[in-house]
Amino acid sequence: MKKITKIIKQKRVMLNQIKASFPAKSVNESLSRMIVASLACQLDPTIDELADIKTAVSEAVTNCIVHGYGNNKSVGMINLYACYYDNNTVKIIIKDKGKGIEDIKKAMLPLYTTDDSGERSGMGFSIMQSFMDKIRVISNPGKGTTVIFEKKITKPE
Ligand SMILES: Nc1ncnc2c1ncn2[C@@H]1O[C@H](COP(=O)(O)OP(=O)(O)OP(=O)(O)O)[C@@H](O)[C@H]1O
Ligand SMILES: [Mg+2]
Repeated sequence: MKKITKIIKQKRVMLNQIKASFPAKSVNESLSRMIVASLACQLDPTIDELADIKTAVSEAVTNCIVHGYGNNKSVGMINLYACYYDNNTVKIIIKDKGKGIEDIKKAMLPLYTTDDSGERSGMGFSIMQSFMDKIRVISNPGKGTTVIFEKKITKPE
C-alpha cells in the first residue's frame, strides 16, 4: 500500500513544453537562455531561481559548442527541450551529437577540464550541480552528450 501511495505521489502532470533546435554557435547561447527563461517565468520564479536556471543552461550550451563540436569545421546542432510540471518543477534537456565524454564522473569533478587554452576553469558541471536540484549526464564517445536537469520553483505565498 505504501509503495502504491509513493508511486501516485510521484506522478507529475506536464503543463507546458518547448522544443528548439539551433546551430552550435556562441550567439545561440543567449538565445537558449532566453527560451528557457521565458518558459520558466510562467511559474513565477524568484530572480535568483531564474538566474540559476539561465546560468545552468548557458554552461550546458557552452559545453556543446566548445567541447562537443569544438574542433569540427561544420557547425553541429544543439537540441533543447524544456518543460514544467504541476509540482512547479522545470525540466531542461540539452543535447549535442558531438564528440561525447569518455569519463563522465571525471568530467564532472570541480576544476577538471580538457581545455588547454587556459580559457576554461573546469567549473561548468559544478555550477550546474549547485544551481539545479537534479542533474544527469548521458554521453557516448563519438555520439554526443545529453544533459538533463531539473529545478523546483518555490510557490509564491
Ligand atoms: N557537451 C560536451 N561534449 C564533450 N565534452 C564535454 C561536454 N561537456 C563537458 N565536456 C567535458 O567535460 C569537461 C568539464 O566540463 P565543465 O563544463 O565542468 O568545465 P569546462 O567546460 O572545461 O570549463 P568551464 O565550464 O569552467 O569553462 C570539459 O572540459 C570537457 O572535456
Ligand atoms: Mg563548461
